This record gives sequence, structure tokens and C-alpha cells, in this order.
Amino acid sequence: MMSAETMEKTVTKTAPGPSALSAFGALRRVQRDPIGFLGEGWRKYGDLVRFKIGPVENYLVADPEAVQQVLQTNNRNYNKQTTDNRKLKLALGEGLVTSDGDFWRRQRRIAQPAFHRERLQKFAGTITASTDAMSRAWRTNAESGRPLDVAHEMMRLTLEIILQTMFSTDGSARAEELGGYVSTAIRYVNDRVTSLTSLFEFPERLPTARNREFRHAIAELDRFIFDVIKARRNGAAQPGDLLTMLMEARDLDTGETMTNQQLRDEAITIFSAGHETTANALAWTFYLLSTHPEVMSRVRTEVDRVLGERTPTVEDLAKLEYTGRVIKESMRLYPPVWIIPRNTLCADVLSGYDIPAGAQIYISPFLTHRHPRVWENPEGFDPDRFLPERIGALPRYAYLPFGGGPRMCIGNNFAMMEAQLILASVTQQFRLELVPGQRVELEPLVTLRPKHGIEMTVHSQRSAS
Ligand code: HEM
Repeated sequence: MMSAETMEKTVTKTAPGPSALSAFGALRRVQRDPIGFLGEGWRKYGDLVRFKIGPVENYLVADPEAVQQVLQTNNRNYNKQTTDNRKLKLALGEGLVTSDGDFWRRQRRIAQPAFHRERLQKFAGTITASTDAMSRAWRTNAESGRPLDVAHEMMRLTLEIILQTMFSTDGSARAEELGGYVSTAIRYVNDRVTSLTSLFEFPERLPTARNREFRHAIAELDRFIFDVIKARRNGAAQPGDLLTMLMEARDLDTGETMTNQQLRDEAITIFSAGHETTANALAWTFYLLSTHPEVMSRVRTEVDRVLGERTPTVEDLAKLEYTGRVIKESMRLYPPVWIIPRNTLCADVLSGYDIPAGAQIYISPFLTHRHPRVWENPEGFDPDRFLPERIGALPRYAYLPFGGGPRMCIGNNFAMMEAQLILASVTQQFRLELVPGQRVELEPLVTLRPKHGIEMTVHSQRSAS
């Protein structure tokens, strides 16, 4: 006979949640304010919420332990074949972000060594050189007092950095043009993920203006990438960039390298995953610093002490500890990847509730990062909560800006190095002030953007002091 304790563990139940939602009504709410919609459900029903929308079972998973179960301990039961993923594939193909199973495992194994911390260090110079070029342009704004949109500036900067580290393009007009195509492709995929038309699945083949524009952007990006690959296969110099690393990478078991199509899919994946996220992390950081002068002044003191007027290098990063904590805390409040979707393969039990096969799971770093049971003063901006002894006392999956388990972000070291170098170098040269009356609102698309940008005035540190 089962003991009462075992009975309690095995008898499960359907998760609470709003009564069945009409697909149209729910999508309208999701489109207008997805974080508000999920947050409301979470506050009302708890850490596991069932949203049945039309025939689809959707679950919000907010408890760090259940998050760990999905991403790590039982990760093989949760794949990425969700509706959103199918749309991402329109641009990214079968790359690391969108693929699954044995194909993904092999690609990850081949690509992983290129992202080791030591190998990435050689890109630090590219990061600081691009930041310097941006700073030179900012000096004109500092002199004229003309504000600039820091969100847009960060997007341009990180795009240039990823283009250079991936393909060794010089910071030329070509980079600008390719950036335009990437933006068009990302905007199109964003719109399709959140649009009401996603209910009806309008085929991408219809000759509408948007579809044509998207196809043109992808065709141009493909042409550029395939041309570079072809030239390098035909003996052009291998400049030791990320593409070189991917072209030279071999599967340790089989000795196989990637085909041109795989290289294209990975290149465009890394290219897209690797700039908008970091750009948003930095934009939100500048915003938070401008509204928390005491934190700003500690960053400045650290930067002055460690660097003086010297350009930062990778060797400085370990000493720029507080700067690192500021970036971590900013990604807690504004995680660039604010939602992580999964598809359930077999039925499972999460937080004591039944999850049926085929259910769509939504993990929201945005909500879990503000969980009042885990975080003290969750809405407050306090970088020192990332002091090792304080963060070490929290559940591992309470903080997951880079996801977790085997699908954890492959570019996390790159992103942290880039964000720290850029923040240190900008702080060394400028003081940024939010333009009065600036509306700062969330725009949760594929990444979490500031909806109206972040207009700031820049003030030169050296001439001001
Ligand atoms: C602050 C910056 C970044 C954030 C917050 C971020 C966040 C994430 C998250 C949460 C995931 C996991 C998604 C999931 O499990 O469904 C992910 C995956 C990924 N990220 Fe990042 N990322 C950042 C920067 C980068 C950079 C710089 C690169 C490349 C240079 C990159 C490349 C990737 C790739 C390829 C994957 C897929 C990994 C796989 O599934 O094997 N990311 N990222």
C-alpha cells in the first residue's frame, strides 16, 4: 500500500489558470502587452499557470526549480519545435538556435571550441577599436549638445563588432548595408512571431511587399556569406575570425567539417543572436545608470582606478568587478532574452502539476528574475546582489539571462567581455544623461527592447572635469 507521503507525490493535478481563452482575444492581449499578460497570470495563479488558447495548452513556468527541470535535468523532454521557432527558421535556417536532437548536438560540439574564453580574447581589440570610433562621433554630440538614441547606437556598434569578428569586414559602407538587411530580416520575423496574422499562418510565399522585402534581404545576406565562404575555400586568406574557426572546426568523432549551407545557417544565427541581445543589455544599463547616480559614480571610480586614461584590455576585466556586477544586475531587471519557449515531448510533472505531451512551455527570465520569494527587493537596482557570497546563496536557476543546461547561450563569454569593455570605455570618456521627459517603455519582441529608444545627451568626461 502507498504511504500518504508517496500518494501526495504521485497524485497530480491540472495547473490553475484563466478559463479557456479565445485564440483571437488572447493573441490580441499577447500582442499588446505580453509581459503584462503573463505577469498578471503569475500573480493571480502562482508559479505554474495554464493558459489554454484555442486547442493549444500553454504553460508559464516561473519557479527556479521547475525551470531547472525543463532546461537541465529533464531537458531531453523539451525541444525547441514551437511555433515561434518555425518563424525564426525563415531567417536562420537550421542553425544552433533553431535546431534540435542529434543534428543540434553535432553542430554544438563542432562550434563550441570557437567560443572558449581564451580564443575569444583576441576579439577584444576589435571591440575597443569599434567603440573608439563611435566615441569619436559622440564627441560632436557632446560639443553640440544634440542628444542621441543610445539604443540605436548600441545596435550599430554591436552589429559592426559581430560583422568584424565573424567576417572581418572593415567598418565600411558594406557593414552598414548588411546591417540594414539584418534589421529587415529581424523585424519581419519579430512581426510574424507576435502578429495576429500568425493565427492564420499567411504563407511567406505570397508576393506581398513585406514578403518581397524580406526575401530580398535574405537573398543579399546569403549572397554575401556564400561569396565569402567560396573565396576562402578557393584559397583566399583565412583571417582567423569566427568564420575561419567554424570552417576549420571538425567533429572529433567523425572528422567531418560543416557544409556551405551549415556554415551559412550558423553564420547568420551567430550574427543575429550575437548583437541585438548585447545591444539591448547595454542600452538598459545606460538607462539604469542615468537613473541611479550613486551606482554610476561607483562605476566611474572603479574605471578611473583600474584604467586611468588607458584603453581597456581583457586583462582588466577581472579587476572591473563592479562594472561586471552592474551588467549582471541590469540583465536581471531587463533580460534581453525575456522569454524562452519549449515544446513538451512526453507528459511530465512540473511544480506538482501535470504537463501534457505537446504543451508549449514558456520560461520567462523577466518574471523569474523578479520573483519575490527569491529576490530581496526584486524591483530595486542593486548590483551588489551579485557579490559571490550573495548570489551563491540563491537557487541556480533564479538567474538565467543566458538560459541554462545544454542549450545555454554559446556566446555568453563573448557577450560579457563585449559589454564590460564597452561600458568601461564609454564611462571613461562620457557621462550620459537621460533627456528629460523621455518615455522609457518595454518592447518585448524576440528580444527586450526599449520601445521609444533611449534618448540621452552625452557629456565629455575629460573636458567636463
Ligand atoms: C547579452 C547578450 C546575450 C544574451 C542575453 C543571450 C541569451 C541567450 C539565451 C537565453 C539563449 C538560450 C535560448 C534558449 O534556451 O532557447 C541563447 C542561445 C544562444 N546564443 Fe546567446 N545571448 C547573448 C549573446 C550572444 C552572443 C554574443 C552570441 C554569439 C556571438 C550568442 C549566440 C547564441 C547561440 C548560437 C545560441 C544557441 C545555443 C544553442 O542552442 O546551442 N548569444 N542566448
